Amino acid sequence: MSSPAQFSPSPDQRLADMAQSAAAWEGLLGFLLERLGQAPASDEWQLLEAHFQGGRLEDFLAIANCHLVSGAHAPVGSLRQGWELLGLDRFVAVLLAAEMLSWCRNSAELSGAENFWAHWLGCALVSQAFAQRLGLAGEQAFAAGLVHDLGQMANARLLNGHYAEVVAQARNQANSLDQSEHTAMGFTHCDSGALLARQWNTPAALVRVIEAHHQAEFNADGDELTAVVSVADQLCRLCGLGYGFYEARQVDMTEEAAWQMLAQRCPALRSFDLARFTFEISEYAAEARKLAGIASTEE
Ligand SMILES: [Fe+2]
Ligand SMILES: [Fe+2]
Repeated sequence: MSSPAQFSPSPDQRLADMAQSAAAWEGLLGFLLERLGQAPASDEWQLLEAHFQGGRLEDFLAIANCHLVSGAHAPVGSLRQGWELLGLDRFVAVLLAAEMLSWCRNSAELSGAENFWAHWLGCALVSQAFAQRLGLAGEQAFAAGLVHDLGQMANARLLNGHYAEVVAQARNQANSLDQSEHTAMGFTHCDSGALLARQWNTPAALVRVIEAHHQAEFNADGDELTAVVSVADQLCRLCGLGYGFYEARQVDMTEEAAWQMLAQRCPALRSFDLARFTFEISEYAAEARKLAGIASTEE
């Protein structure tokens, strides 16, 4: 097992090296993260249409036509129809989801990466539904849930095989991934994800979610979007939509800092039926696994 010493000279230096290597990251990840805040320009369509071909286009269409992702609408048969039918924000988020799924399908660095993608998409769906119940913006919550664990992709892609060892250790110890990351590497996917998200000009609200969704405290300055995604992330993991392995955690959701902060600010949470919501999550989980091409629960 890798120890922090093997990530020499220091976690900060390792993060700096990752940021430099990310500049050469193939694909459209950085481009799409930046476009979560703005429309692609007309001359960028050629780039999108050249990139989203074959299996990647099939993934885009499958996600775009999933009723849980995009609601009821006429069938989407092309990128252009996706743009017209889904609206800008959802269109870019679905492109991003397809790009992330493509990486997971082809990842040599992380076996079972599709389980991670199912968690990311599931967290997007749960964040959206939870935000809407609280009277908050569902669209932004969907995007935030989708990208909240961006650092896991970055760690897998840029740490030359070390990350697979860290994930294996978390799996063997039934540990939370962020805790195993911190023990083994001295930083977590929150640190690396935020670093790269900033580098790729991701909207600031999403960078905050990426950076702080595992924080233990939510003070008066804490933002609601991060708290929503923090709750959604934990609910997904508690309901069997984690990273493809069991985590030995005992969590009373209503005692969590994110929940309590939201309870103070969102009156709707006081009458929220959490038990019923967890049943809904199983529907999101089944759909996310289906789109990821994995059969059933593995936890
Ligand atoms: Fe996370
Ligand atoms: Fe997560």
